[in-house]
This record gives sequence, structure tokens and C-alpha cells, in this order.
Amino acid sequence: MRKIGVLTSGGDAPGMNAAIRSVVRAALSNGMEVCGIRKGYTGLINGMFMEMNARSVSDILHRGGTVLQSSRCPEFREMSGVKKGVEMAHRMGIEGVVVIGGDGSFRGARDLSLAGLPTVGIPGTIDNDIGCTDTTIGFDTALDTVKDAIDKIRDTAQSHERCSVIEVMGRGAGYIAAYVAIACGAEAVLIPEKSYNFEKDILEPIIEGKKRGKENNLIIVAEGAGGAIEIAEKIEEVTGVEARATVLGHIQRGGSPTVNDRMLASRMGMHAVRLLHEGKGNRIVAIKNNAIVDYDILEGLAMKKTMQEDILNMASVLSL
Ligand code: ADP
Ligand code: F6P
Repeated sequence: MRKIGVLTSGGDAPGMNAAIRSVVRAALSNGMEVCGIRKGYTGLINGMFMEMNARSVSDILHRGGTVLQSSRCPEFREMSGVKKGVEMAHRMGIEGVVVIGGDGSFRGARDLSLAGLPTVGIPGTIDNDIGCTDTTIGFDTALDTVKDAIDKIRDTAQSHERCSVIEVMGRGAGYIAAYVAIACGAEAVLIPEKSYNFEKDILEPIIEGKKRGKENNLIIVAEGAGGAIEIAEKIEEVTGVEARATVLGHIQRGGSPTVNDRMLASRMGMHAVRLLHEGKGNRIVAIKNNAIVDYDILEGLAMKKTMQEDILNMASVLSL
């Protein structure tokens, strides 16, 4: 391939800029031209393209967000929208595209490939909910952001002997919640993947802890498992322990990416360009046991990642 495009799609994630930088410079080093496609699939359909050179990606490695911006593009869910994207790409001489995004974006990438535009997906989402990869770009940075916030909340919870209920992102996946529950020593964690009994799993540990003289509690809830505000109200009403809710929201989506995310993004960007340079499309780049690999998009999307029971078991044991 002589000319490729790169776009970011869906929920943005810290590290996406590092991936864009890697794609651009790896392609240029292979003698390829690179087109930045702005605003995800919306930009592809509407021809929002910008020629990229080595300088186009200077001073972005350390920045959160995506310099190409992102979008959620309902039109692309229809084959007519996909075909418009392929036609626009071909009109610009683009022979392949790198899509940096989550599972929804990969479904669009699959459709692009099937419609005749070879596409390679790079997993960029803070949710870490892509089954074929051990981790996604943005997950490590989001964990660090949440950890810093929870450590601050723990200070005031200890001062006032309160129960803090922290709501983190993860509509369909509880990876952020489960990991920070261990890293921050939560008494309980609620995730969408696992049902729970409010009395047994939340109220009893608080009441028992109070009897043992425990002066404050930390409950982590993934947004897909419940609302921190309602949970805090119920805890205070039933146990009499003062409870305060914090919904961390979109601070989890920003910030300067960690070294791990910059490395992961750089490695995945190089691999994606190598695939397109070899004329391969319809692939998802992944990391397995620290090796960068790739899968057919459909196969990759079909792979399920189960919440490791040991992670959840560790969270409950260590919170005793
Ligand atoms: P993420 O990629 O973070 O999961 P979304 O689920 O919002 O984010 O998907 C991003 C974009 O990908 C959507 O706005 C849409 O344009 C496209 N997309 C999502 N699902 C599909 C699908 N099933 N088929 C085609 N395109 C899709
Ligand atoms: O997919 C990443 C994510 O941050 C989810 O964790 C969250 O539920 C969703 O995006 C929020 O989407 P939006 O930015 O459109 O509100």
C-alpha cells in the first residue's frame, strides 16, 4: 500500500495520540503516505482528511484525548454509510485504514474491510472490554487516575469515619472497578459481570466492620452495576453509618497517558502499519502475554474475556 488513513472512533482514551504518532511515523518510514481522518467514521464519510507528516504528530505523545477527534456515527451502522466511507477513501487514494477505538468501532472496521477497504483495528478504550487482548490503550492510565482520586477520598473518609461509595466507568465491564478495588483496598466492589446481594455483600461487611471498630469503608461500583448516589443513601439509611457518593465520570477518560499506555500504543501502531504494508486487512491488533499479535476482526470480536475469578476473590479476601 502506498497511502493509508488513520482515525479514532468511539469513546476516546489516553494513549490514542501515541498510537496516531506511531502509525504516522511507521508508515512514513515505510515510504507510505498517511492521511489523518478527523472525527472518526463521520469524517471518513464526509472527507474530513488531512495529510500527515512527521511534524504533524510532534508534541502529542504525552497528551490525552485524540488530535484527530472522535465521534459516534450512527450512519455508519448502515451499509450505505460504510459504502460512502469506502468511496471517499478511494477518491483520496487511500488503500487501507487504521481504526483506533473500541468494540463498536471494530464492527465498523469489519464492515469497511468486507466492503473493500482493508482495515486494521487498534484497541483504544479505557474499559479494557475487548476479549482478544490482555489490555487496551487507556486502561492503565484510567486506573492511575481513579487510584489518585480514591486515595484523596480515603483521606476525608478517615477524618469523618464515613463510608465512601465511588462510581467508576464501565457500562458493560467492571475491569476498572475490580482493579482499583484491589489497588485501593475497597471493602466491596460491584461489577456488571457479577450479581450481588445488597444486604450480604454490602451492608453486612459494613455492620460487622463497625462492630470490629472499623472507622471507614470504601465501596467501588462500576456504572453498569448501579448508582453510587442511591447506594450511599441506602447504606446510611440502613446502617446509620454516614455515607458519601462520588461519581468520577469523565476525568477517567483524560490525562497524560502512562508509560505503559505510551509503549502499548507505540507497539500496536507499528504492528498495524506492518499488516497494511503487507496488504493485510480485517485484523485487530492485540497484546497477549506481552507479545503484540493480531486476529481476524470477527474472530477477535467473538473472543470472550472473563473477569478473572482470582481478581474478585483477591478483592474480597484482602478487604477483610
Ligand atoms: P466504541 O468503539 O468505543 O465501542 P461505539 O460503540 O460508540 O464506541 O462505536 C463507535 C462507532 O462505531 C459508532 O458510532 C458507529 O459509527 C460504529 N459502529 C458501532 N457499532 C457498529 C456496528 N455494529 N456496525 C457498524 N458500525 C458500528
Ligand atoms: O467506552 C468508554 C466509556 O468511557 C464508558 O466507560 C462510558 O460508559 C462511556 O464511554 C461514556 O460515553 P460518553 O463519553 O459518550 O458519555
